[in-house]
Formats: sequence, structure tokens, C-alpha cells
Amino acid sequence: MTVRTPKLFVRSYGCQMNVYDAERMADALAPDGYASTDRAEDADLIVLNTCHIREKAAEKVYSELGRIRKMGEELGRKPLVAVAGCVAQAEGAEIMKRAPVVDLVVGPQSYQRLPELVRQARAGEKPVDTEFAVEEKFSSLATPVRPLATRGVTAFVTVQEGCDKFCSFCVVPYTRGAEASRSVAQIVAETERLAAQGVREVTLLGQNVDAYHGEGPDGRDWTLARLLLRLAEIEGLARLRYTTSHPRDFGDDLIAAHRDCDKLMPYLHLPVQSGSDRILKAMNRRHTAADYLRLIERIRHARPDLALSGDFIVGFPGERTEDFEATMRIVDEAEYASAFTFKYSPRPGTPAAERDGQVSEAAKAERLQRLQARITERQIAFQRSLVGARFDVLVERAGRHPGQMAGRSPYLSPVQIEGSTAAVGEVVSVEVTGSGPNSLFAAPAGGAREDVRMLAEATA
Ligand code: SAH
Ligand code: SF4
Ligand code: F3S
Repeated sequence: MTVRTPKLFVRSYGCQMNVYDAERMADALAPDGYASTDRAEDADLIVLNTCHIREKAAEKVYSELGRIRKMGEELGRKPLVAVAGCVAQAEGAEIMKRAPVVDLVVGPQSYQRLPELVRQARAGEKPVDTEFAVEEKFSSLATPVRPLATRGVTAFVTVQEGCDKFCSFCVVPYTRGAEASRSVAQIVAETERLAAQGVREVTLLGQNVDAYHGEGPDGRDWTLARLLLRLAEIEGLARLRYTTSHPRDFGDDLIAAHRDCDKLMPYLHLPVQSGSDRILKAMNRRHTAADYLRLIERIRHARPDLALSGDFIVGFPGERTEDFEATMRIVDEAEYASAFTFKYSPRPGTPAAERDGQVSEAAKAERLQRLQARITERQIAFQRSLVGARFDVLVERAGRHPGQMAGRSPYLSPVQIEGSTAAVGEVVSVEVTGSGPNSLFAAPAGGAREDVRMLAEATA
């Protein structure tokens, strides 16, 4: 008799931290025999790893739960259904009331308890665990066990979680709890393990990553900059990135790291949210537009080729036309290479949701469209400005056709390399030959091109 391996299907919504957490959940369940599948139909356990940041994101979970219920009826067997992530934290047991198909609810700080919760759910209990046990999570979820094949040459590593900033629109301080940093030793060990498995690029994750203050080997709190410099020493690792930062926490040593550390990529996601000081104040961002621009100038002074990205919210309560115009201006003043734009979404329990001066849906839609159009123009111009440039690409996978390889530029744009003999995981020098709105086209430059020619001659 063969015992069937139970299958796990995780669908993640929201930010990259959820992507990282999804891998940790799979790791936590692996000792119980769970193998991952990418087909919900095959799964014995379905985990929806949810996001609560905007209303649309939060509602997705309920439509997905409806689909899962129907799928179960059609299959004639009901998989176990778990809701994890930030909706789980925000709504807890309410989820089961609204969607009885759900067997267990687990908040983002309790994934280390997932195997036990799954056993309880199997026994017919309906466990709900939304405790903030972040220290416990960090200490027990630190060891990835699955082989590299499923991971590729880039990886995320969460270095801090939670947020103490309380921007007046945002649910994160409530769903992820207070800011907590992992120790340097844990992060170094995890990153070394990833590098040993062939990972060449690591992106450090945190809701407020530049507020990182984990305990160093000397017993003192280390800054993000110090951590980055330490990780840069790890053999095999070629590139470091980090996201997402808050302007208030951007230290001088982090600026210096952008100047001094070659492995730290010249790309920065630093949201400003609005260009209007009145709105920034109402958002509780605790900086002005001028502070932000000064900071960007200092970072660019340290790293002139820096590509800047950010987030914007339009239609925050009380936002008038002149506030929005200030946002339009800062897009050009800060010279964004790209940015994400959102319509303000009132979130239950956040201060801004209760405020007067909520902006009409029509005004939000119009502002979003104008802002988005300007950002798209900037993005296309940025991509075009790179044609003819030479830089390194980390090769992440084979392209669609023979001789094509795909990877990313230092600025995070996807690059298609034509006529490349490079292997996945190699960092190769390219010359950009063309640009599209989202990706670049390139040919091997310098040494690599010689290789191709020699190879062509040898086989002629
Ligand atoms: N910690 C990060 C971002 C967290 S959420 C930071 O501080 O920048 C990602 C983005 O979602 C935010 O930058 C913001 O632009 C957007 N966002 C957050 N809450 C929102 C809301 N209630 N409505 C619309 N957009 C929101
Ligand atoms: Fe949310 Fe503000 Fe914290 Fe970012 S800094 S997670 S926007 S509260
Ligand atoms: Fe969403 Fe939670 Fe991330 S609300 S954006 S999944 S921290």
C-alpha cells in the first residue's frame, strides 16, 4: 500500500513579506509530509495568505473562498482551508462566520504553530490563532529546508516585521504588530545558507526596513547599513537590495552604504505618498515634501545612478486640487523611474477612515489616472535613457528562444539578452540595445561577446 503525500497549496496576496512567509509555511509543514502543489484542485490543505491593505485586497479572500467551496462540491471532497496573513489578523474568527468553508485562521506572527493548528483542524476543531508572537516566529521559522530548485537565484529574507509609524491610513501596525528586528546572527546564517544553495541576490524585507535595529554579535543594536555591509561579505552573493524604507529612518550610514557597497544595487523604493505638506501631516508621515527631496538629493549625491521608485495615495481625506497638484509636481522633482499609485481606501480601525472630507470616487479616479499617466511617461523615458548603456545583469532564467537569457538590471528592470551563452546565476555585462515600457533588450558586452565569437569560430 502506498501512502498518499498530502499536498499543500498556498496563494499569497499583498506584499513580498507574504511571499516569504508562504515559503516559511511550506517549510513548517514539510516535516508533517506536506509537499507543495501549484494546483488548488490537488490540494489537501489550501492556505490563503491574505492582504488587508486596501478594501479590494481584503475582499478578494471572500470571492476566493466562494470558489474553493464550489470546487470542493465539484470534486466531492473538501480540502482543509486555512486563512493566513493580514486579513486573518484583522478579522479573526469573523472570517469563519462569514465563510464556514474556513477550518482555521492564523495571523502572520503565528506560522510556527501551523502544524499544530492543522492537526486541530483535522480533528474538527476550528482553531483561531492571532497572537503577536513575533520573537517566537523569528526563532522557530529560521531554517529553510527545501532545496534550491524551487527557489531560483534570487531570494527574500525578512529582517524586521511590524511597524510603529502609524500612518493614519494604514492597517500594517495593527495587522503585523509592533516593529521587531531579527538578530544579525539569524539573518547572516539564513543568507549564508541561501548563498550556499546558489542564491546570488537577496532582498531584505521589512515593513519599515530602514528602522532595522537587530542585535549584532557584539550585543549592540546594528543598523540596516551595518547589516548590509556584513552580508556583502558573504561569498557567492552578488547583489543586495532592501524594501520598504521610510524617509524618517533613512540614516547617514545607509546613504554611505549606497556610495561604498558595490553589491548594494542602485535602486531604491522610498514612498512619499503625497507631495503636499498639509496631506503629509494629516497622514502622520512626519516629514515634509522638502525633507524628502533633500534626502533624495543626498542619496543621489552618494550614488548618482540611483533609480527611485515609490508609492502614492490619491484622494486622502481632505485632499484638495492644489494638494494633488503638489503630488504631480513631486513626481518630476524627485525624478522617479517608476512608482505605484493607489486610490485612498478607508480601512476599518485607522484614524483617517473616520475623518471628514472623504474624497469622491470620481475625483479619486481622475487623479489616479492623471498621476499614473505621468508616472508611465517617466518610466518609459527612464527605460529609453538606458539604451546604449552598459551594466551587469543577473541571469535568472532562460528566455523563450534558444540563445535568449532573461535577468534583471541593477535598477530592477527585466532584461532580455540576445545571443547569450551565460548560465542561470551568472552576472554578465551587457549593452542595452532597445527598450520597452517594462523591459530592456540587450546584447552581451565586452568579454562575454568575445566568448560568443570564439565559440562561434570554434564550432564553424
Ligand atoms: N511600509 C511601507 C508600505 C506599506 S503598504 C511604507 O511605509 O511605505 C504599501 C503601500 O500601500 C503604501 O506605501 C501606500 O502607498 C499604500 N497604502 C497603504 N494603506 C493604504 C490605504 N488605506 N489606501 C490606499 N493605499 C494604501
Ligand atoms: Fe503603513 Fe506607514 Fe508603517 Fe508603512 S510606515 S507600514 S505606510 S504605517
Ligand atoms: Fe498586505 Fe499585510 Fe503586506 S496588509 S501589504 S500583506 S503587510
